[in-house]
This record gives sequence, structure tokens and C-alpha cells, in this order.
Amino acid sequence: MNLFVPQKIERYAADYTSPLSPLLEELQRETISTMDNAQMLTGVVEGRLLQMLVKISGAKRVFEIGTFTGFSALMMAEGLPEDGELITCEIDKERAAFARRYFKRSPHGKKIQLKAGPALKTLKSIPDRSIDFIFIDADKTLYPLYYSEGMRVLRKGGLIAADNVLWSGKVLRPDDDESRAIALFNDIVKNDSRAEKVFLPVRDGVYLIRKR
Ligand SMILES: C[S@@+](CC[C@H](N)C(=O)[O-])C[C@H]1O[C@@H](n2cnc3c(N)ncnc32)[C@H](O)[C@@H]1O
Repeated sequence: MNLFVPQKIERYAADYTSPLSPLLEELQRETISTMDNAQMLTGVVEGRLLQMLVKISGAKRVFEIGTFTGFSALMMAEGLPEDGELITCEIDKERAAFARRYFKRSPHGKKIQLKAGPALKTLKSIPDRSIDFIFIDADKTLYPLYYSEGMRVLRKGGLIAADNVLWSGKVLRPDDDESRAIALFNDIVKNDSRAEKVFLPVRDGVYLIRKR
């Protein structure tokens, strides 16, 4: 992934952000040392951003598409009230097992339900307008579908945060299925009159969307 902010500035931003809890530090270290594609971790700055959005929006029901090792799920769960709930979806068994180990150890783990299998199937089982906050962070070719289903399950005033919407800058000249799907997703959101939006060039791009 090409990051747009120079590494020194990324490090400075991380230094001036509330640090990770010891458990999330350990999860991050173990992910980096034992798992492929560790760059998929959202990291402290984006993770704290998600947590703060969950907190200040007063979200109680969160839906996450793409668990990986559980970093962003635990970050958001830390921002939920005691009776809050987070459903997170992961298709890969090894990653799901890794995440579950950490959910069990966290005082916030009881708020999290991990659904193994394709996220779209789980999302389709969710009732209309029952979710307050959605984080989209899985297979890029399905972003347009995740959005249409996401808007169905999101309550009025709810938020969607979609990750990797710059896709290392490839959205400027999409020339493969993933970059074309993300560029299409960005166009759909831009032209959707139901959505208030701000496109944040944080890390690999975060599209923040509020359902009117
Ligand atoms: C970018 S990673 C998620 C990173 C995570 N949100 C974090 O911050 O640590 C995307 C994850 O989505 C999973 N995934 C890909 N396609 C999926 C699908 N159709 N349904 C559920 N999970 C999927 C991948 O296995 C991968 O672990």
C-alpha cells in the first residue's frame, strides 16, 4: 500500500494520538510477526479515529466487514457502551481464530460477535435500519454491494466509514477490477442524495458517510 503522508509525519501523528491499550499492542505485534499481509491492520491513527466516531456518534450497534486479526473490531468495541454490540465478518478461518483469541482476553470482547463466512450473506440477514455504524474494510470488488446493503441496514443519521478508498492512488486511473470497483463505489457515494459525505485522505483514504 502506498501511503500519501510521509512516514515521518505518519509517525508524528501516531505519537500525538492516544496510545494503544497493552492488549492491542500485543495483537499488533503478533499480527506483524506471524501473519501475512500485516499492512491490512488499520493502525493506531485510523483505529482511534474509528473509536472516536463510534463514541461521539453514540453508536450502540456496529457492523464491521473484514475482521482480519481483530484490531479495528476491538478498537471500536472499546468505544461502545457496556450494552453495545459489534458484529464483525471474516471469511478466513485462521484469521477468525486469531481474532477470537484476542476477543476472549479483552474486557470488551463480550460486545463482539464474529460471523465466519462471506460478509454479504451476514449483512443480508440484518434487519432494515437496525445498525448505527458500519465499517467497510474487506474485498474491494464488493464495495458497491456492501454500500447498497449497508444503506438498507443503517438507521437514519447512522454512519458508514469505508477504508482504502484511495487504493494507493489507483482510483485516479483505475485499470484492474479492484480499483474500478472502488472508483465506482466512490462515484455512487458522491452521487447519492441520501448521503452526506466527507472524503478523508487518512492513510489509504477513508470515506465517511452519514445517512440523511
Ligand atoms: C483489510 S482486512 C481487515 C482489517 C481489519 N479491519 C483491521 O483493521 O485489522 C480485510 C479482511 O477481510 C476478509 N475478507 C475478504 N473477503 C471477505 C468476505 N467476502 N467476507 C468476509 N471477510 C472477507 C479478509 O480475509 C481480510 O482478513
